[in-house]
Amino acid sequence: MRHLLSTEGLSSAQATELLDEAERFEQALTGREVRKLPTLRGRTVMTVFYENSTRTRVSFETAGKWMSADVINVSASSSSVGKGESLRDTAMTLRAIGADALIVRHPASGAAQQIAQWTEGRDGTGPSVINAGDGMHEHPTQALLDALTLRQRLGSLQDRRVAIVGDILHSRVARSNAHLLSTLGAEVVLVAPPTLLPVGVEAWPVTVSSDFDAELPAVDAVMMLRVQAERMNGGFFPSAREYSVRYGLSERRMGLLGDDAVILHPGPMLRGMEIGFSVADAPAATVLEQVRNGVHVRMAVLFRLLVGTEQSGVSQ
Ligand code: CP
Repeated sequence: MRHLLSTEGLSSAQATELLDEAERFEQALTGREVRKLPTLRGRTVMTVFYENSTRTRVSFETAGKWMSADVINVSASSSSVGKGESLRDTAMTLRAIGADALIVRHPASGAAQQIAQWTEGRDGTGPSVINAGDGMHEHPTQALLDALTLRQRLGSLQDRRVAIVGDILHSRVARSNAHLLSTLGAEVVLVAPPTLLPVGVEAWPVTVSSDFDAELPAVDAVMMLRVQAERMNGGFFPSAREYSVRYGLSERRMGLLGDDAVILHPGPMLRGMEIGFSVADAPAATVLEQVRNGVHVRMAVLFRLLVGTEQSGVSQ
């Protein structure tokens, strides 16, 4: 694997290997006073974020540092992007400086793929590109950390039923999860108002429902999504109030879930709208486990892309 741009097309074997490697990193670091492995010593990893982030950017930085890589953070607001430099020129500049990996978040769908094409030399050299969220398209490491969290809570994902709920239209998390979870054997149902479903959703490996209450008793997991008001151009249909009443995971709705069902949210959360104030802190909720797994998943991804598949990163 040279780049990680999407979960669509990732095989079950490739995904499982990344999840297994993430767990090996977790085990290798557990209980250590000094969380530092030599795995990526001498490698240069650059994060290039054109949109805000807390979890993804910081966990990639943490992952790189825990593996001894040199990690450099480039934020669009303080770089020459603010002087009008193009995405291509920025990417080529970072390649010329010596990036071994470019971790990219950008509001345009396809931006990471485009950077991977631009930065690949004629001789096949160039940095590995990791998509850290491209517009409304994909967020593959989020789906991998979600799958790892589900696997740890539920065991195998085979034939597990997962509801992904809310603003599917604007959600790269939903698309990446729909593909990855179904590849790993889960049944995925999207629960959303018709106005917040994307054109072409019929081609996704999912079923669709608009009756949240009816779905809850039958699911093993419910994944709530962030409402992406910043992508709605000021309009929001249904209204925030109606959305909360029909698609929010309230305390009452949590009571409709089975005893062993789990609740995910990628964050950041809008408590009181997408998810009840106390629901996100319930024992069934995995929000902070997801965040913690994000570091190990990103270690696994960096290792597999920069070193290869012949060995485990923890045996370096
Ligand atoms: N889940 C997620 O991508 O969060 P951030 O926007 O904080 O990175």
